[in-house]
Amino acid sequence: MALDYPTADALTDTVTPRDPSHWPDTPVFRGYASPVRLEGEVRDLEVVGTIPAALDGAYIRNSADHAHPPMYENDLFLNGDGMLHKVRIKDGKADLSTRYVQTEKLKVERAARRALFGAYRNMFTDDPSVAGKDRSTANTSVVFHGGTLLALKEAARPMRIDPDTLATLGGYDFDGRLKSETFTAHPKIDPRTGEMVAFGYFTTGTADTAVELYYIDASGELTRTERFDAPYPSMIHDCLLSENYVIFTICPMVCDWERVKRGEAFFHWDDRLPTMVGVVPRRPGGARDVRWFKAPNPVMETHTFNAWEEGDRLNLEHFITQTGWLSQFPDINNPQAQEKPPFAQRWTIDLGAGADEISIAPMWGHIGEMPMIDLRFATQRTRHFWFGTNNPALGPMLPRGAKGPPFTCLGHFDAVTEQLDFFYAGPHSSPEEPIFVPRTPDAVEGDGWLMTIVGRRDENRTDLVILDAQALSDGPVAIIKFPCRVHEGFHGMWVPGSALKG
Ligand SMILES: [Fe+2]
Repeated sequence: MALDYPTADALTDTVTPRDPSHWPDTPVFRGYASPVRLEGEVRDLEVVGTIPAALDGAYIRNSADHAHPPMYENDLFLNGDGMLHKVRIKDGKADLSTRYVQTEKLKVERAARRALFGAYRNMFTDDPSVAGKDRSTANTSVVFHGGTLLALKEAARPMRIDPDTLATLGGYDFDGRLKSETFTAHPKIDPRTGEMVAFGYFTTGTADTAVELYYIDASGELTRTERFDAPYPSMIHDCLLSENYVIFTICPMVCDWERVKRGEAFFHWDDRLPTMVGVVPRRPGGARDVRWFKAPNPVMETHTFNAWEEGDRLNLEHFITQTGWLSQFPDINNPQAQEKPPFAQRWTIDLGAGADEISIAPMWGHIGEMPMIDLRFATQRTRHFWFGTNNPALGPMLPRGAKGPPFTCLGHFDAVTEQLDFFYAGPHSSPEEPIFVPRTPDAVEGDGWLMTIVGRRDENRTDLVILDAQALSDGPVAIIKFPCRVHEGFHGMWVPGSALKG
């Protein structure tokens, strides 16, 4: 069938037509990053060490695992199909299950036995036969709230998932109350109230400045939608939540719809624009009173730890890079620019002062990404911070992959002792996002376990590693060994056993 590709003149280096009958030989599809595509279950995984007897629940995370060779040679790993990985842990035993999110995109492409949806978030590059169909890959994160498990992708609405079977139960619009076409992959839950605060940007499916804000109560009911405008149309990947505010860091990762129509990259970095922080009061009508603060330099927020208030002072804790995400999206002013690594920073805004200044301080002097805190204490000042990182003093860096250098370590920063501690995963081994699980529901902050997927690159295999969250350098308490590789992923969470049937 003839495909209506954009004309060659309109294409840039990011969208190159290809024969979709085989896989590209690019870092996204090669070696340890290559698609796995295997759905199934493995019971009674081998365990080295001892799984803590009290651990009862499921580690569930999302990943992007292309089910079909892409339509374009330089496709991004961000464009893979959502594949869920779950490790059910109970009575010292662990079972693995892996399952694709059954998106409309996956169903249509499976029926055709080939890719029909084109470049990342760019419907203009699709096969004409799928015009108007849901492009969601549902591949970025999961959230369990109000008894409902959702697979999330910021470019689309949520997909509802059965937490016991990982079966896809369908698209989810909060009983018709979600009006936007989009819903963030990084909603925030206030542990004091159980309220979930979420948002959507590019809410009509095109690039505009409208941001819709959703308040979802502890039972899962979407009770309120508010709306404000960002300074310019850009990627809004994460947000911050404090006791009284929801905060957005708008970075110049810009979307220009005319470029998208021409088949160019969906986002580009344009640091002629400022990084702006929008502070929205959480009270009803608060979006009308959004206040904007300008960062001293155009920088990129990658992911957030937490936000907390101290009188009129609002503290924002997040990972910041001095460039855009240039391994994925080009710098429009300097195509040769190299991506710089993220560092944790605390940004402080004095809401009582008339000025629009932000004061910035490093939180510790070591690179990192994929932040985690003890989420029972979100919106309050926390002591413990965990993250993925590298530490060449402990082991060599691994070859750069499709999304930059893989982590070789997890880090823990104790803000009281100001000490850093590291877990080095071993040669050829790459930890991913850490997930904190409290030892007991009422344990003090930071007392519990840290879990992470670890890629064993020389064995083409994956483990789930459990660490004492405050003794990372002691090494694993348990290594749960998978007999196969699961694809590298993005974000996950711990669902307690009380919420599961089996
Ligand atoms: Fe993310």
